[in-house]
Amino acid sequence: MNEENFKFICDLVLREAAIVLGAGKEYLVEARLGGVASRHRFPSLNALIDHLRFAPNTLPLQREIVDALTTNETLFFRDFHPFEALKKEVLPSLLARHTTGKIMIWSAACSSGQEPYSLAMLLNEAFPSQADRFQIMATDISTSILRRARSGLYQQLEVNRGLPAPYLVKYFTQTPEGWQINEQIRRSVDFREINLSRPFVGMPKFHFVLIRNVMIYFDIPVRRQILKQVRELLVPGGYLLLGGAETTLMVDDGFTPVNIGRSTFYQVT
Ligand SMILES: C[S@@+](CC[C@H](N)C(=O)[O-])C[C@H]1O[C@@H](n2cnc3c(N)ncnc32)[C@H](O)[C@@H]1O
Repeated sequence: MNEENFKFICDLVLREAAIVLGAGKEYLVEARLGGVASRHRFPSLNALIDHLRFAPNTLPLQREIVDALTTNETLFFRDFHPFEALKKEVLPSLLARHTTGKIMIWSAACSSGQEPYSLAMLLNEAFPSQADRFQIMATDISTSILRRARSGLYQQLEVNRGLPAPYLVKYFTQTPEGWQINEQIRRSVDFREINLSRPFVGMPKFHFVLIRNVMIYFDIPVRRQILKQVRELLVPGGYLLLGGAETTLMVDDGFTPVNIGRSTFYQVT
């Protein structure tokens, strides 16, 4: 891939998804886009990018490229400790403080759904008589990853990562296509397409928001703009959970870090 075409791809993912692909990421672009080029029968990656640059109406192809350049790595009950803190403190405190109406949870950048489904299973286990007090919305920028998430179908390797064996037995059925999550859990998550780098419109208020392992791909002004909007969506006393390598510190000082168990949550006052 020539330098000009690499720059074109970097500009495209920055503009469409706010993902910063710096110098040195040529190998990543080549590895991820090689398959797109051959699927569309382009003789080379440069030929695919030249087509994008000069042909009209390439929007679907552009989306496929942004999709291919997002990192969808995820697993059930990722990092373990935040889910313990949720079960023991965060969710009981939300239930105690909000005795009427739904408790709204948003899993933003949810990838193939392991994060929101982990929450749904945890709610079912820890608060069986009150699980329907919670509503989970899960979003991602990628149409194709959301299609996978909605299907609730996982391969053996995926259910081997993070999912406790009793949960596999209780909530999944083995099918020729893979492990199918049960209908009650699948239906308890509302999946939607949302690009975090665009203004959030028509969103409800939330009691708890998870934005994990995605802000690392954005620059500081984009992180700031996202955190400001999340702060405005959270009810007073609501919680934000970020990925282990992410923080609100030096980005948005409207959040108060609160250590719960071995995890840090961020609260709005
Ligand atoms: C590494 S996964 C994180 C999944 C999950 N939150 C976790 O921690 O396991 C990052 C996800 O962010 C999504 N993503 C990337 N840029 C985005 C954007 N601008 N808006 C919304 N989602 C985005 C990707 O499609 C991908 O599914």
